[in-house]
Amino acid sequence: MAAEEKPAPGQPTTDRVKGIFTHIAPSYDLFNILSSFGIDRLWRRATVRLAQPNHRSVMLDLAAGTGDLTMAFARLGKPASILSTDFVPEMLEVGKKKAAAYSGSTKIDFEVVDAQDLPFDDARFDIVTIAFGVRNLPDREANFREVRRVLKPGGRYVILEFTRPPSPLVRWFYHAYLRVVIPNLGGLLTGDKPSFQYLNDSIRAFPAQLALASELHAAGFTRVNWHNLTFGIVAVHIAEA
Ligand SMILES: C[S@@+](CC[C@H](N)C(=O)[O-])C[C@H]1O[C@@H](n2cnc3c(N)ncnc32)[C@H](O)[C@@H]1O
Repeated sequence: MAAEEKPAPGQPTTDRVKGIFTHIAPSYDLFNILSSFGIDRLWRRATVRLAQPNHRSVMLDLAAGTGDLTMAFARLGKPASILSTDFVPEMLEVGKKKAAAYSGSTKIDFEVVDAQDLPFDDARFDIVTIAFGVRNLPDREANFREVRRVLKPGGRYVILEFTRPPSPLVRWFYHAYLRVVIPNLGGLLTGDKPSFQYLNDSIRAFPAQLALASELHAAGFTRVNWHNLTFGIVAVHIAEA
């Protein structure tokens, strides 16, 4: 894209996404709790259950942000280890504080990593996860290629993301909520309403369940399926390498 071209509404670019999350890192957790009425915790719990880690699992959490999915896995799934990564160090710093208060058996490490270019050997992980992150990647194909490479054969990519509620009525209310509440609440908490307008647009621009599953198939994953949660406001896709 030429430097003077403005990205379309909801279109992720590296600069835009890095700028947004660097700025909102201190308020991100509060915004999450208020905007989802705390339901995001249930979504993360469901993601752990569906990912089925065991005490030998070696895990990678991409776009881990402030570490809520990482910590849900450590507390509930108890894998052997989980590497919590993000390309915004300010987000990971919040996660590090949560991990410092954790005393369970999972080994938790942090690393600044771009989810589209993974600095890891092939076939290193049993499970790779990404929550509310894949929507923000300008190059999903690169992410899928990289995740397949670093997963062991038969390993699973687990994606938690906002999606398209199948019911038109739920969709209408949900989109109205995204349009009105998200930018205003985000603006109030951070003084940065345009960033939350982008987040709203990016949710609406993201492929629906079947389209995302097709992309995963096209990238070479097998046994791709998804589970809708909360009327299909979010879905967990699971795909095998
Ligand atoms: C909406 S937050 C989700 C954070 C966390 N996974 C959660 O569930 O709360 C999106 C995160 O994706 C990160 N992100 C976006 N693009 C990325 C990329 N290319 N590589 C790594 N992290 C990225 C952002 O920095 C941000 O922390």
